[in-house]
Amino acid sequence: MDKHAYYQQAVQCVEAEIDFVSETFRQLRGRSAITLREDFCGTAQTTCEWIKRGDAHKGYAVDFDPLVLQWGERHNVSALNAEQQQRINLINADVLQVQTPAMDMVLAMNFSYFIFMGRGEMLDYFNSVHRSLAGDGVFFLDAFGGYEAAKELTEERDCDGFTYIWEQSSFNPITAEMQCYIHFETDEGVRMDRAFDYRWRLWTLPEITELLREAGFSEVDVYWEGTDEETGEGNDIYTASTEGTADAGWVCYIVAQK
Ligand SMILES: C[S@@+](CC[C@H](N)C(=O)[O-])C[C@H]1O[C@@H](n2cnc3c(N)ncnc32)[C@H](O)[C@@H]1O
Repeated sequence: MDKHAYYQQAVQCVEAEIDFVSETFRQLRGRSAITLREDFCGTAQTTCEWIKRGDAHKGYAVDFDPLVLQWGERHNVSALNAEQQQRINLINADVLQVQTPAMDMVLAMNFSYFIFMGRGEMLDYFNSVHRSLAGDGVFFLDAFGGYEAAKELTEERDCDGFTYIWEQSSFNPITAEMQCYIHFETDEGVRMDRAFDYRWRLWTLPEITELLREAGFSEVDVYWEGTDEETGEGNDIYTASTEGTADAGWVCYIVAQK
């Protein structure tokens, strides 16, 4: 059982993520992005996808856990060809301190920045991303919410050869802090409990967008998912919106322009 391989298969869809950020950047800025920094990169799968998408692309992947970076190096970076490997940098650092050249795009995905518990710390992070961006750079984040986000619950999803189990183990309405876990169970019944452990604050969209504006981002938009008319489910198309729907659980992107 390899928890990072399971995580990549069950949680990440880096192709769709890179489609969204590269197309949105082009629409907003009228040019193609070249440089991307993936904060909280884990195995750096998203940065590797970016490198593969264009011969001029450069990528910087930042995580403070050396073990997950080693895994990414061994499994994702090593799968790139020699020329592509020259264009990727894995950086073992705290996102609050990391120094990189001016970036076209910085990404904070899979809600990783929810790790910051207070507005002062969140503002420090947003300020440092603002400083890291080129003059026309764009910061992309995702967020989740809805009335089930604040519930204690467990959800299971079948994957190829194993089950992905998401547990919202506790939620404290006074601080909005939540404790979540990812567990895995193979089809043979072997269980990997608490493969990943997340202590997060469940930030609301107005809190996040207000802090981004406070950090100096000139335009901050929420990109909300459209609805498939036949199924009534999300259609994977995210557009800048000022009104969302009161869904039980939603995921959206936030796009902050320098
Ligand atoms: C939820 S995973 C995100 C993985 C991947 N980016 C994704 O989209 O699925 C969170 C990662 O953030 C890293 N992390 C948490 N706090 C950090 C910090 N302050 N600086 C750098 N990395 C951090 C953890 O080591 C972990 O690998």
